[in-house]
Amino acid sequence: MNAPLIAPSVLAADFANLQRDVEMLNRSTADWIHVDIMDGVFVPNISFGLPVTAAIKKHAQKPLDVHLMIVHPERYLEAFRDAGADVLTVHYEACPHLHRTIQQIKLLGVKAGVALNPHTPVSLLQDVIADLDLVLIMSVNPGFGGQKFIERTYERVRQTAAMIAESGSNAIIEIDGGVNQSNAALLYHAGARALVAGNFVFTAADPVQTIAELKKVW
Ligand code: DX5
Ligand code: ZN
Repeated sequence: MNAPLIAPSVLAADFANLQRDVEMLNRSTADWIHVDIMDGVFVPNISFGLPVTAAIKKHAQKPLDVHLMIVHPERYLEAFRDAGADVLTVHYEACPHLHRTIQQIKLLGVKAGVALNPHTPVSLLQDVIADLDLVLIMSVNPGFGGQKFIERTYERVRQTAAMIAESGSNAIIEIDGGVNQSNAALLYHAGARALVAGNFVFTAADPVQTIAELKKVW
């Protein structure tokens, strides 16, 4: 088994010092930089969009893991790829033609992910799981950083891991929301292989050290 990928979320960074915070992530053992795009429609909050993503890319030495919390994500996939996304994740709940949207992402030459809100049964991914590189299981309701981790997530990770094994898919499971040192190991052992962490990393006295510790959970 391998250590989990750690994907700090720049939603919790200091937006007035983004370059400084991205350079800190470059120096750390973080694997990906998680970029949360919120449109104020799919989720009740607005974060930032294409120009800020491109600005992060300019300084990032790690892949950008772009999480689209927006309606009609299919309209913006190419633009986010061009802004520097290496992984593009859309929400199941925002995609009536999910199969087509996944194929669109793959044609752009980046990794394809689908995110599930906490109420969406993981079994709904059964018919697309073989095409996915990533399943993002939300462990909070999307829209804000710093929320409390939903305990039911462990069972959802186990169910998803079983579905992936059964289908022969190469998808990895990513967890997003309320991740910290006390749930990271349990998530890893349930089958998660990528952990997003926003507040836990950026409010730490030593974010580089905190990222290294999260990675040690396995
Ligand atoms: C929530 C976002 C998360 C958020 C995680 O809607 O998708 O990526 O930044 O932040 P924490 O780790 O603080 O819960
Ligand atoms: Zn996210």
